[in-house]
Amino acid sequence: MEAIRIRTDQAVSGMIVAADVYTSNDQLIITKGTRLDERMITKLRFYNISGLSVYKRDPIEINNQEESYLEKLRNTPEFKKFNRTYVETISEIENNFYKMANGESEVDIDNLLKETDRILNEGRSGIHIFEMLHGIRDYDDMTFVHSLNVSLICSVFAGWLKMSKEETRIVTLAGLFHDIGKMLVPREIIAKAGKLTKDEYEEVKLHTIKGFQVLKNMDIDVRIKYAALMHHERCDGSGYPNGFKSGQIDNFSKIVAIADVYDAMTSNRIYRKAICPFDVVESFEKEGFIKFDPGYLMVFLERIMQCYLHNKVRLSDGREGEVVMINKFALSKPVIRCGDTFIDLSKEHNLSIDTIL
Ligand SMILES: [Fe+2]
Repeated sequence: MEAIRIRTDQAVSGMIVAADVYTSNDQLIITKGTRLDERMITKLRFYNISGLSVYKRDPIEINNQEESYLEKLRNTPEFKKFNRTYVETISEIENNFYKMANGESEVDIDNLLKETDRILNEGRSGIHIFEMLHGIRDYDDMTFVHSLNVSLICSVFAGWLKMSKEETRIVTLAGLFHDIGKMLVPREIIAKAGKLTKDEYEEVKLHTIKGFQVLKNMDIDVRIKYAALMHHERCDGSGYPNGFKSGQIDNFSKIVAIADVYDAMTSNRIYRKAICPFDVVESFEKEGFIKFDPGYLMVFLERIMQCYLHNKVRLSDGREGEVVMINKFALSKPVIRCGDTFIDLSKEHNLSIDTIL
């Protein structure tokens, strides 16, 4: 079978991996011949793997995998309206980002915030926005879409953290501008499907410093500037550009970091079924608490999981049921009611949630 190289965001459940996949630290995470599932795709995103080799498949087979859950969402009038506002805002962001990258500091921040507010108002609550974002991700302009998503996630997150209006405004902008430095990294590197060379990766890392430089002289809160610089720092010191540890990282940057990784892990693509948030939460539970601020992360994961209470799901053994209780100590393993039976996934180690229905 012929192998092709794809970006991680093009990976779909069922694809067969054609070459071993390693992390940047040369840790083997998926072996050749493995059939990808949602859990593994989440893992690829968690480890920031930019691309991988898979065997070529029949496009018809891929099409049939498109999940009805996402289709249903996309066909609602609410989603269509949301989508329109979203697309308008993206072009607004695009214009402003180009201006900023060219050194023009006359950017209408209030107008940009009005746009994000308008999108948030299209959704009735936090969950709505998260669901809508899952439906929306079919665009190519990764930086703008990602920036808007992170900004929206930060805004909802600020509400969960009971932040004041002013703080919410600042963290929303911190999310919006966190990747502005990518405008100054060569596009062929940002959009490259294959594995980045060491030099290219070093170049990508510079988007943090470049972003800080773009924002440095603007009349905005310093925490917005810090977020551009520090959103890839990790609490255990494993991040970049400075390898700062928890005490050295600004709180708003810690919030943006969680929103950033969540969006990267859940971002959608054309031939892909709806993200299973339980897998994403599981990845964070396994390795997130040393890398991200545990206080913020706990609030974030708990609120995300609460959004899925009463959702219908399909289990890995094919049974269908309803999420009836979220387990605080194992957020990704809730209690499921299948007919008259209650299944506690934290105790059933061979069972997991396959998909949301
Ligand atoms: Fe970034």
